[in-house]
Amino acid sequence: MAAAGTQLGRLLGGLWFLAALLGRPGATAAAAGQPAAPAVAAVDGRRAVAATGEDFVCATLDWWPPDKCDYGTCAWGRAGLLNLDLSNKVLLNAVRAFSPPLLLRLGGSLQDKVMYGYGAGRPCAPFVRNASEMHGFSQGCLPLRRWDDLNAFFRRSGAKVVFGLNALNGRVPLPDGSMGGPWDYTNAASLIRYTANKGYRIHGWELGNELSGTGVGARVGADQYAADVIALKALVDDVYRSEPSKPLVVAPGGFFDQAWFTELVVKTGPDLLSVVTHHVYNLGPGRDTHLIDKILDPSTLDGMVSTFSDLQRLLKSTGTSAVAWVGEAGGAYNSGRHLVTDAFVFSFWFLDQLGMAARFDTKSYCRQSLVGGNYGLLNTTTFQPNPDYYSALLWHRLMGTKVLAVTFSGTNKIRAYAHCARDSESLCC
Ligand SMILES: *[C@@H]1O[C@H](CO)[C@@H](O)[C@H](O)[C@H]1NC(C)=O
Ligand SMILES: *[C@@H]1O[C@H](CO)[C@@H](O)[C@H](O)[C@H]1NC(C)=O
Repeated sequence: MAAAGTQLGRLLGGLWFLAALLGRPGATAAAAGQPAAPAVAAVDGRRAVAATGEDFVCATLDWWPPDKCDYGTCAWGRAGLLNLDLSNKVLLNAVRAFSPPLLLRLGGSLQDKVMYGYGAGRPCAPFVRNASEMHGFSQGCLPLRRWDDLNAFFRRSGAKVVFGLNALNGRVPLPDGSMGGPWDYTNAASLIRYTANKGYRIHGWELGNELSGTGVGARVGADQYAADVIALKALVDDVYRSEPSKPLVVAPGGFFDQAWFTELVVKTGPDLLSVVTHHVYNLGPGRDTHLIDKILDPSTLDGMVSTFSDLQRLLKSTGTSAVAWVGEAGGAYNSGRHLVTDAFVFSFWFLDQLGMAARFDTKSYCRQSLVGGNYGLLNTTTFQPNPDYYSALLWHRLMGTKVLAVTFSGTNKIRAYAHCARDSESLCC
């Protein structure tokens, strides 16, 4: 990331220009004794072409327990929501460094197997490994005391929280292989009421994890999902009826599927759903030994353009007031890959994703994960920042909400994005 030249900066009233170099362009030409072709970046500062939210940079916390393992390594340690050491000062300060506050999305695969705060007689037990169950674990339970502790941490650290609810509760398998029947929201309703009564601030309630389209582990039809989102909205409106600003209603937290997402957006109506969330794992499985080649390959990176632009077009054409977020993006699934997705090289993917998402009007982008797996912004055991933590923090501090159009001619190994600077927005655009 480099600041634009002073002159250009003055001209535009301040902007930050992000240019990532994938490998060394011109290396081949130079080796052949020829000068590298000139490259020109042009930033159109006359108007913004898209806008992010104030809290564009977001990170996730997940439910995975210490015995979650992929390809023989168990990369989650005590970083899951039920185990995280909430008294750790490094963790606290890492979140506090974000101002305006860091958005945290709580969720992940096991989210649709979590029950909340059983009391009296019904044990509130953690997840137990069981290979014959979906995602390899039994149902787990979030004790209300743990929920209190998590909320105390969110208050101390200043984080804004989006909580992903269990959307599989009460479903039954249908003949077509999907999970159906209406969402049983009794347990979710008691969590939401408890949370509101305690005065814990929740920025958004999200319904479900990766149940859209063909689903991961399980899927739910879009027609049923729309009915369930409507039920969640009614619940949120009821619980927060005396509050001037209600939490956002967020869905579906899954992979983009044009037909499924369209049906959800159309059937929930124009103003009910606040945020449409989708997930990004465009690099394939973490066990891939060629992950670095993909991260540095412009065509792999460009493979996500169609998803972002299709979703943007869908929201525009349906006339919904809902905005798009990336609710979870780890790049490489099954917990990422050590020394790749927790190393410097991953910023070439991460910063490009932030730039691309913003360019297509994404309002927030949640990196999987703040901590845990092999793709944490923080080290799983020490909470010391990994390189991408600084990429996230720099973006948060420098890049404003107004996105400018950039054209770049020359090598396709340089990726360029520009925003008005965060601290001089009134002067720009
Ligand atoms: C594992 O899950 C299967 C399928 O739900 C169940 O029948 C079995 O009893 C479980 N095993 C243990 C040890 O709980
Ligand atoms: C995290 O810290 C541990 C302990 O210092 C270290 O062994 C490990 O390599 C670190 N992980 C990363 C991704 O740097």
